[in-house]
Amino acid sequence: MTSQSFIYSNRRAYHWLMRGLYGRYFEDRYRTIAAQVPASSRVVDVCAGDAYLYLAHLRHKPVTYIAVDASPQLVAWARARGVDARLIDIWNDDLPCGDSVIMQASLYQFLPHADRIVDKLLAAARERVIITEPIRNIADSDNPVLALIGKRFTRPSGGQYAAQRFNRESFTALCDSFPELQNLSNLPGGREMLAVFRGRATDDLTEAVTRFEV
Ligand SMILES: C[S@@+](CC[C@H](N)C(=O)[O-])C[C@H]1O[C@@H](n2cnc3c(N)ncnc32)[C@H](O)[C@@H]1O
Repeated sequence: MTSQSFIYSNRRAYHWLMRGLYGRYFEDRYRTIAAQVPASSRVVDVCAGDAYLYLAHLRHKPVTYIAVDASPQLVAWARARGVDARLIDIWNDDLPCGDSVIMQASLYQFLPHADRIVDKLLAAARERVIITEPIRNIADSDNPVLALIGKRFTRPSGGQYAAQRFNRESFTALCDSFPELQNLSNLPGGREMLAVFRGRATDDLTEAVTRFEV
């Protein structure tokens, strides 16, 4: 596992950056995703960060939740709060299977190979994949401080800055290239889009799906 940026190694800094970035829409973005998850789902939240989706918006639902992230610090923080959080690098490791597989505001980190990551999420999902993705990114912010943080301090595991980002056109094109796409819409605030796909997994919800080389 390679090193990652300061923001992803410090829960407090991470959390307040996310709050600052999304402002009054901070809770709405989690609430919208939580509403897509039916009761009794086994949820796998990939690139879960501090598992705020579960801790603040899913815990009251009768769901099984697994958080997957490559940050040892964020995984440890979530585990200390009773979350089934697993240290997994999605580039190299197998994913647990779930009914609902979620990736929130993280797909840009895997450009230019985002399609392979979507394939991997679809293979792990028995019912649905829910992806939200920023189409107006912090790195493109008019605020020079936020733009610098976006470019320099949110380096994902993998050792490189996430230099590429989606915009509305490129995210729509990626989603449209998958026949499993069921719905594509905007999240409140207009910063992110929400895509829902039909999952491909057909077997029991055992561990492990595909491996691939990039
Ligand atoms: C912008 S945060 C999004 C967190 C959360 N989904 C949210 O929206 O609140 C991106 C997350 O992706 C994680 N990440 C980056 N590269 C990863 C990889 N290769 N495998 C698993 N997680 C990764 C980071 O550790 C970080 O927690």
